[in-house]
Amino acid sequence: MNEKNKKEILSRGAFATSIGAVIATLGSAIGLGNIWKFPFIAGENGGAAFLIVYIASTILVGLPVMISEIALGRKARANAITTMQKLNPKKGQPWWLIGALGALAAFTIMAFYTEVAGWVYAYIFKSLNTSGLSTNPQVTEKAFTDLITSPWQSLIWQWVVLGIVSVIIIKGVSKGIERVTKFMIPSLLVMVVIIAIRSLTLDPVATSKGLSFLFRPDFSKLGWDVVLIAMGLAFFKLSVGMGTMITYGSYWQNDQNIPYRTATVMLSDLAVSLLAGLAIFPAVFAFGFEPASGASLMFITIPAVFASMPFGQIFMVLFFILASFAATGAMISLIEVPVAYINENFNISRLKATIATNLTLALIGSLAALSNSVLADFKLFDLTMFDLFDYVSSNLMLPIGGLFIAIFVGWIWGKKNIEAALNNAGTLNNHVIVNVFTFIVRFITPVLIIIILLGGLGVF
Ligand code: TRP
Repeated sequence: MNEKNKKEILSRGAFATSIGAVIATLGSAIGLGNIWKFPFIAGENGGAAFLIVYIASTILVGLPVMISEIALGRKARANAITTMQKLNPKKGQPWWLIGALGALAAFTIMAFYTEVAGWVYAYIFKSLNTSGLSTNPQVTEKAFTDLITSPWQSLIWQWVVLGIVSVIIIKGVSKGIERVTKFMIPSLLVMVVIIAIRSLTLDPVATSKGLSFLFRPDFSKLGWDVVLIAMGLAFFKLSVGMGTMITYGSYWQNDQNIPYRTATVMLSDLAVSLLAGLAIFPAVFAFGFEPASGASLMFITIPAVFASMPFGQIFMVLFFILASFAATGAMISLIEVPVAYINENFNISRLKATIATNLTLALIGSLAALSNSVLADFKLFDLTMFDLFDYVSSNLMLPIGGLFIAIFVGWIWGKKNIEAALNNAGTLNNHVIVNVFTFIVRFITPVLIIIILLGGLGVF
């Protein structure tokens, strides 16, 4: 890495080691999306057929948008909104709106994500007494319902989450994020493998039911609505479509191979999701849960798996600690979008920017936190505020953001800039990859997003 590059990055706070930015990127991708959202959405939408559409969207839509975002951020070395202003050759066109929509999406996602993270934090403490540790579905379900229907518990855990995230964000990019993520991801992986092994050895009949649920596709279950949800999950999983990866790309170093590293992130992320599926579905059938239990799925099945293994309680405490780390890494990457923007564009300190952002979130987030108690009947489009934030962010805001990012990179930024960004100014020999990427980001990704959005919203 040359001196200019080093200075340029260090002046806005870089990751300490060359691999640090990639680790942090992985830390953004891996989160509650893998262990909470993926299993419950796959469960609600029929399993294997959904999985196939999800993997296809990840490769043809999620990964190209991720490569685009990292390349843009690394080139501009700025927050998402400034990046779009800097790199746009046509000054009159308002491409910065992508960044603005992204900051809005960050708030929408955080509003419900902090609530689920709050449940995870709460479960660390619940695991310390054994009341929720049981192979009886009614017991684990009751433990979960008691938590989410209590307005004060929901609010307080959300505030705890916001407080912890604030402290890490205020401490800055490198020290905070990298240190936590580096040991969290491998440990989480080991933990999920342990749970998966236990789950797969509970009962042979349940195992085969679980496996065929996850891997034997029944395409009759697929409609446009399900395809849109699968694509939305692909965006959500890879943290793309709203500028997180632009912001993180701005911390990547100039000699890092973007297509290779992003593909590694994508595959690792997919591996964790699939392992979470293997940890949950055999247990669902072994203990007589319902695969379509929705948002409660992870919180009711995983304790049952632990209840059926030696040292289960210790493992359960460890699991929820690791899950809380994963959730925290993801939330840091979400909050970083508005904080970096406010900090860099309005010359407001990181401290003040973080406090303002988190206080706003405490306010909006309370609508989601109270969705299972006092606001349970407060619905728009037949969805509680929690479900509405979730649906609108993943299935509308991220795809729309991703659509414009792909169009911007493919058609406005153009082939020359793409080539220079992906071959690191001529130092990598990857013509074929550059050409394939350019073709996909121009013709495949935007067209798929438009068709799926229109289809999912019932236009045809
Ligand atoms: N990918 C994270 C998860 O699966 C969530 C997340 C973090 C995210 N940053 C994001 C989603 C940015 C969309 C956009 O848990």
